Amino acid sequence: MKIKISVPGKIILSGEHAVVYGKPAIAAAVDKRLTVTLQSRDDGKRGVHSDAGDTKLIKAAINVVKDELKLRKKGAGRHSIFTNGYELNVESKIPVGAGMGSSAAAAVGAIAAFMVAYTKNHSIDHKKINDLAYRVEKIQHGNPSGIDNSTVTFGGFLWYRKEFEFLKTFWKLQFKIADKMDNFYLINTGRPDETTGEMVQTVRERFCKKKMPIGTKFLQILDNIESVAKQATLGIKGEDEGMLMEAIRQNELLLEKLGVVGQFAKNIVREIEAVGGTAKISGAGGIKDKSGLLLVYHTDKRAVEKIAKKYSLECSTAELGAEGVKLDKLIV
Ligand code: MEV
Repeated sequence: MKIKISVPGKIILSGEHAVVYGKPAIAAAVDKRLTVTLQSRDDGKRGVHSDAGDTKLIKAAINVVKDELKLRKKGAGRHSIFTNGYELNVESKIPVGAGMGSSAAAAVGAIAAFMVAYTKNHSIDHKKINDLAYRVEKIQHGNPSGIDNSTVTFGGFLWYRKEFEFLKTFWKLQFKIADKMDNFYLINTGRPDETTGEMVQTVRERFCKKKMPIGTKFLQILDNIESVAKQATLGIKGEDEGMLMEAIRQNELLLEKLGVVGQFAKNIVREIEAVGGTAKISGAGGIKDKSGLLLVYHTDKRAVEKIAKKYSLECSTAELGAEGVKLDKLIV
């Protein structure tokens, strides 16, 4: 049996961090994909290889599938791919540790591959895959909102909210970026020293440690992030460039207030703003040194490229709203 699954990366247009505290966020799948190939063997051996970071997360994903399928007990699942052996290979075009959902995509891809192998009609069950991937995110990050795994699983644009641990809701927004507003760019400022889990913890310690219930200053920032997430969404839907750009600018300032943007990224954002563009970090950020991905909006591509070049950073266009996890190939 050979199964090939592909999963998109993701960006958060607005609302990261606040989404951990029950606020809404808007995210989009991006057209940089990660591919998982699962091939059965007949010698009982198991191999896991990945060019997308260490394989610990993928092994955690495999264990989550085994738990779900109740295959962890001795003797269970005989004649299965787990007992006969497999080769799992992950290849990724999503930059690792940049806030583009590469770990969520790896978990989703590995889970999808094994679930497809075990499903009678070998189909993709998005909801099930997403639920299992959330469990892996929890092992990985401690307190995730679930927005990363949901976005790369379902694809498109997601208006996401985690009401409770047991109620994570999202609305798949049925819109496209209008041609005239197709001016998004991605600049990778570099892999942060901190993990997503550590950045989420940094915010918690800064604002919530000794303040339960949460203090008014933090509540105010969260409320303001909710407003800008709505503005960004209305800006895209209403094709109102000014509104979208202002929302991105305000969101970046609020993320700086939360303390998740490092000086290097701030400098680049200010330069982009000085030449008429707007930019924000996308994802958890980072403060010790680099801050991961910058989502940039500018009508002049060359102006953005010039700034990226000055800092010797990669700059690429961003196709937003890519398809979620999908089965690319199946040989039974
Ligand atoms: C990370 O992509 C987004 C955060 O809000 C964390 C989360 O939602 O789990 C920083």
